[in-house]
Amino acid sequence: DLAKLIDAFNRKHDYLRISLTEKCNLRCFYCMPEEGVDLSPRHQLLTDDEIVRLAELFVRNGVTKIRLTGGEPTIRKNIVELVGRLSYLRHLGLQSIGMTSNGLALHRKLPDLVDNGLTHLNLSLDTLDEFKFELITRRRGHDVVLKSLDTALSLAGLQAVKLNVVIVKGLNDSEVLDFVDMTKDRPISIRFIEFMPFTGNKWDKAKMVPSGDLLQRIASHYPDLRKAADELNDTARSYVIPGHLGSIAFISSMSDHFCGTCNRLRITADGNIKVCLFGPNELSLRDVLRSGATDGELMDLVGMAVGRKKEKHAGMENIDVVNNRPMILIGGTIFSP
Ligand code: GTP
Ligand code: 5AD
Ligand code: SF4
Repeated sequence: DLAKLIDAFNRKHDYLRISLTEKCNLRCFYCMPEEGVDLSPRHQLLTDDEIVRLAELFVRNGVTKIRLTGGEPTIRKNIVELVGRLSYLRHLGLQSIGMTSNGLALHRKLPDLVDNGLTHLNLSLDTLDEFKFELITRRRGHDVVLKSLDTALSLAGLQAVKLNVVIVKGLNDSEVLDFVDMTKDRPISIRFIEFMPFTGNKWDKAKMVPSGDLLQRIASHYPDLRKAADELNDTARSYVIPGHLGSIAFISSMSDHFCGTCNRLRITADGNIKVCLFGPNELSLRDVLRSGATDGELMDLVGMAVGRKKEKHAGMENIDVVNNRPMILIGGTIFSP
């Protein structure tokens, strides 16, 4: 029943993000509060079987893209097997399985993940400087992330490799041109992301660099920078530099939101459906699932959640006033107590 995934603004939600864990092996300051987050007791987290059942239900109802997130998805046990089980959903219409990872525990598992059906990888890396990496993530491992990137680029089975760079003023905005340089001989998309407010991340407007400013800076260095085509539902606006193998893009969640074309739904690690990245609105699918609900009953609940989705930003006038989970508990990657 495709209708269940269409909301009051006629947005068709065919992209499902599934958070596989609340834990992370990094502690990036922009993703979680300094004091850490309260982790859900284990029995409240979805099991592999429950994830597969929900994923199948969503795919049968029209989802064509799945992205695995966290916390850090690679630290979930049996991640390779889970990806393998999800890839069977291709027969039901699933077209891609993506993952957003910080790359720390990734490079050894990556070939198996790709063999088992992983098609898209977004790696989070905010700096090319080892020292700054420790400052941002409060952990070591910069070299390991770069190794994951090299491994990813060597795997033919991956249809796209993107690098997520959250830009924070005074911290890494000076590195923008170095990141752009990486696209010269790598078939990669470097995505500059505006710093967003989440619970406990000490967001401050003054630390946010609008994409427009970055674009100007890059364009003055590369006058032949050109706009490239985007897909209708892309959150990123992409650009190419003639002669470069890769591309760059901007995710302007703050300065130029893309809610009008939003096609995303999320399932949190503890089994809630969350129809918007922002705001507190969630419904537990887990409880209903565990009480023995039929597929029809589950989809009625999903339909109700989708039906309540607001036009933009969860209906909040002002997204600077945070009323949400920290990003680590929504489906970022990076960080744990
Ligand atoms: P692609 O399908 O490759 O475009 O992935 P993605 O960009 O949707 O996912 P990813 O996990 O790589 O997230 C990158 C950034 O996109 C995040 O840091 C957010 O800034 C932003 N983002 C992801 N999903 C949403 C969303 O639903 N709403 C908003 N406003 N921003 C989002
Ligand atoms: N603002 C913007 N992006 C964020 N991410 C985590 N926290 C924030 C934030 N406050 C990013 C991660 C990852 C993606 C899923 O979300 O860097 O790439
Ligand atoms: Fe979609 Fe909400 Fe993100 Fe807007 S803020 S794009 S409605 S998830």
